[in-house]
Amino acid sequence: MKPHGEPVIVRPANSVSIIEAAEVIKQGGLVAFPTETVYGLGADAFNAMSVAKIFETKKRPFFDPLIVHISSINDLPKLTSETYDSVFLLAEKFWPGPLTIVLPKAAEVPDIVTAGLETVAIRMPDHKVALDLVRESGSPIAAPSANRFGCISPTDACHVIKQLAEIDYVLDGGRTTIGIESTVIHLKGNMIRVLRHGAVTLEEILKAIPSLHEAIEPDNFNASPGMLKSHYSPEKPLFILGDPLPQNFTREDAALLSFSCKDTHGYKIVEYLTKDRNLHEYAVNLFASLHSMEESDVKFIVAEKVPEQGIGVAIMDRLKKAAYKYSREGSC
Ligand code: TXA
Ligand code: MG
Repeated sequence: MKPHGEPVIVRPANSVSIIEAAEVIKQGGLVAFPTETVYGLGADAFNAMSVAKIFETKKRPFFDPLIVHISSINDLPKLTSETYDSVFLLAEKFWPGPLTIVLPKAAEVPDIVTAGLETVAIRMPDHKVALDLVRESGSPIAAPSANRFGCISPTDACHVIKQLAEIDYVLDGGRTTIGIESTVIHLKGNMIRVLRHGAVTLEEILKAIPSLHEAIEPDNFNASPGMLKSHYSPEKPLFILGDPLPQNFTREDAALLSFSCKDTHGYKIVEYLTKDRNLHEYAVNLFASLHSMEESDVKFIVAEKVPEQGIGVAIMDRLKKAAYKYSREGSC
């Protein structure tokens, strides 16, 4: 681990650096690493003291539980007290991949990981570096997104370093390929509830596994403690086009996050997140664009709405949360 006050160690991800990073995890340190969604800030899931450092570093409230990352389906019994046939069907179809499954927790999982809940969130990421890191560490890795709580999620190593100076080691694996966080579902037998939208949609899940049903009485299911109205916020005011804009708003002071490439005249900066209305391309570029607009000299950021289909549901969820604290509802 790096001595306190020393700069964070950043290394290109390769077989040597992954072994070094795994050593840091084994010694109780914090490692930021790439996944296919966003970068995670990882610690040994069974080391409560290390996990506590994640909360301190991110300034994350202790009520918000973490996702535990595994590299093999054989890791499941270490984490859950009960698995259903549906878990294995889901794993076969969607793991490794951007799907997190909330299941009954094994007693050995420290309460700090699950924020005292009786359930634990588990995911097998579709990224070689993340999988190798979990494997080399010899333990599942608890990891939230590697950003300060409430701020924009990181899709490259620079975004991580910008927000979190006090971590031990960063594995730089370049830009992430999906760009927004995993879909989180709560599973009880054959009943499923979506807690956070992501690249895997409920329709895809129900189509792939017809024995699953959406929970009719969602009250019996977990809420996601981390699904707050305000999240992912850039340090500059962000508005969704169509919502009220402040009186002093002018296009000359603003950056536009464009989906349709239409009505772009007059803005100081136009960010074309996709050239041909491709929602996946938009998702890959969204957080990177927010990071770069946060650092630009515009006063406002406005985002065009995207169609709420497929991954578009997850994109609009992130945009609404990013805009919330600047909206009338959020400020009263
Ligand atoms: O793509 C991702 O999921 C990334 C990468 C690093 O894997 N991770 C991520 O973690 O986005 P985080 O901590 O930023 O978001 C985890 C979400 C939070 O909304 C949290 O409240 C929810 O999952 N969650 C975790 N454990 C839960 C549980 N037992 N029950 C309900 N929600 C849970
Ligand atoms: Mg997060």
